[in-house]
Amino acid sequence: MAFGDFAPEWWPFSAGTTVVVGILTAYFIAYKLSSRKIDPREPPVITPIIPLFGHVLSMALLGGKYIKNLGLHNRNLPIFTLPVPASRIYIVADPSLAAAVQRASKVLSFTPIIPEVTERVLGLDKATMEITRKNLDPAPGEERGFLADIQDMVYAWLGPGDYLSELSLDAAREMRDEIAAYAASTGSSTKEPTDLLNWVRHLVTVSTAKYLYGPENPIALDPKLEGAFWDFDHGLGSLLMNILPSITASKAYYGREKLSVALLEYLEKGRHKTGGSKIIQKRVDIALEHGWTLPGIAREELSFLFAGIVNATTSTFWILTQIYADPELLGAVRGEISSILVKQQRESGDGYLLRIADLKDECPVLAAVYRECLRLGSDTYSTRLVKEDTLLAGRYFLKKNAVVQIAGGVIHADRSIWGDDVDTFNYKRFLDRREDGEGEQKKKAIHPAAFRAFGGGKTLCPGRHFAMNEILAFVALVVLQFDMEPARGDRIEVPRKNDGVLPVHILEPVSPVQVRISKRADGFARDGLDVEFAM
Ligand code: HEM
Ligand SMILES: *[C@@H]1O[C@H](CO)[C@@H](O)[C@H](O)[C@H]1NC(C)=O
Repeated sequence: MAFGDFAPEWWPFSAGTTVVVGILTAYFIAYKLSSRKIDPREPPVITPIIPLFGHVLSMALLGGKYIKNLGLHNRNLPIFTLPVPASRIYIVADPSLAAAVQRASKVLSFTPIIPEVTERVLGLDKATMEITRKNLDPAPGEERGFLADIQDMVYAWLGPGDYLSELSLDAAREMRDEIAAYAASTGSSTKEPTDLLNWVRHLVTVSTAKYLYGPENPIALDPKLEGAFWDFDHGLGSLLMNILPSITASKAYYGREKLSVALLEYLEKGRHKTGGSKIIQKRVDIALEHGWTLPGIAREELSFLFAGIVNATTSTFWILTQIYADPELLGAVRGEISSILVKQQRESGDGYLLRIADLKDECPVLAAVYRECLRLGSDTYSTRLVKEDTLLAGRYFLKKNAVVQIAGGVIHADRSIWGDDVDTFNYKRFLDRREDGEGEQKKKAIHPAAFRAFGGGKTLCPGRHFAMNEILAFVALVVLQFDMEPARGDRIEVPRKNDGVLPVHILEPVSPVQVRISKRADGFARDGLDVEFAM
């Protein structure tokens, strides 16, 4: 039956035209609704081309890059509104507004989001989720829930102090031993092409599992779990979507399940008590006090192992790639590290003492390379839920239940903050003073909230001090002992970062870096580097 059969006689248009006009009208209305402000003080609205669903679809298809590009194309907007079905996402692209978001932590809070994320990513059961949701954001004097207790402990223990030193030394020694084992396993002449990211991944994964969970950790007992770990990592975005994860994110799902079974066995056998680090033992105790079961704790520990491994790995990869791609930089870094080594007499012959604090304080080029790699590699979003209608910085209306995201990727790529060479690797921007042809110039002060790699405010990474200690120690050990040549061509090329994914960690390269690693003929590696660490 054709449309014409129903059309009233006065209707002047053909069926086809009617359909087109109908669609256009519907589109126009939907577009207008999408571009409407809820309140005149709401940040400028960026209307999606496909009304309502456009932004969500584009995010799903293009990953973190989509919002980053929106931000970069609208550099004049410090904050803007993305309408999404039944809600809004506010994107903050300016450091001083980012700082305002961080200060308003009572009404703009990350905590309510944590249970939603962990339930999906870790596959926690209903009973555990009930415990997690209790007393999430306690006011002073109120009863403290599980999350508040465990965060207090982790932030305190990983903050500057004795335990941070202890754990950093454990980590450095473990890495030293893993690297020594690698050096011993390769003859002096074998120079197989090696994927640098995989190489770093293996060393960091194995040593992190050991210094956190002890020699009888699941990955040490079953090396196949290393692959399961990275499967889990690479499917995190899909697990977060949570649409039949065992099918749509099957590798990540089964990786996670294998690891949680192994971690459960680890806990049941009490291996954390005999070999685990103190911070792991304390985490398990806190969870037990709050009524968690061992299967739940096993999953929760997977998240801590994850936090300890993924970002440290990918940052270390970028740092090594940048250093070895530039012989002059390699020379400068080697010079700095060599100069802080203290020679020591040992029974076994000469050895060296390396103070980790000196790597941070006495090696300015190394520390600047570290920061610059984090700036370039991190497109992180700091996410907050709007708990009640709010006027941000006294100006911008934010609607209750909407989401605020501080777009690290936009801020890290902002010329007005970092200068015209924002897209290139230039560690000198992080040196206190820089040579500028004309002589030394004081560098322009950078807003403290502009460096986003560790997030900011209440969700600032508690592992940031530890991460810097262990990463610099790892880089120092490698730089002192090994040379790297490209597997093909005559110089190591630094690939672009892959920003087409949901940025759940420091971005990976679009293509692998293939190198030939060899022990240095001169210097410290000749007879194996005998190094002891101190803080
Ligand atoms: C270069 C390395 C690292 C980077 C760039 C990094 C970055 C971050 C960021 C951006 C967040 C906050 C996420 C948010 O705002 O939602 C975070 C959270 C966290 N990080 Fe790190 N991190 C690194 C290394 C580490 C290490 C080595 C550890 C542990 C040993 C660690 C432990 C944690 C934990 C436990 C949290 C969650 C804090 C909470 O409960 O809210 N991180 N990290
Ligand atoms: C890792 O770093 C990225 C980028 O800075 C951040 O978005 C993410 O939350 C971090 N994840 C963990 C587990 O530390």
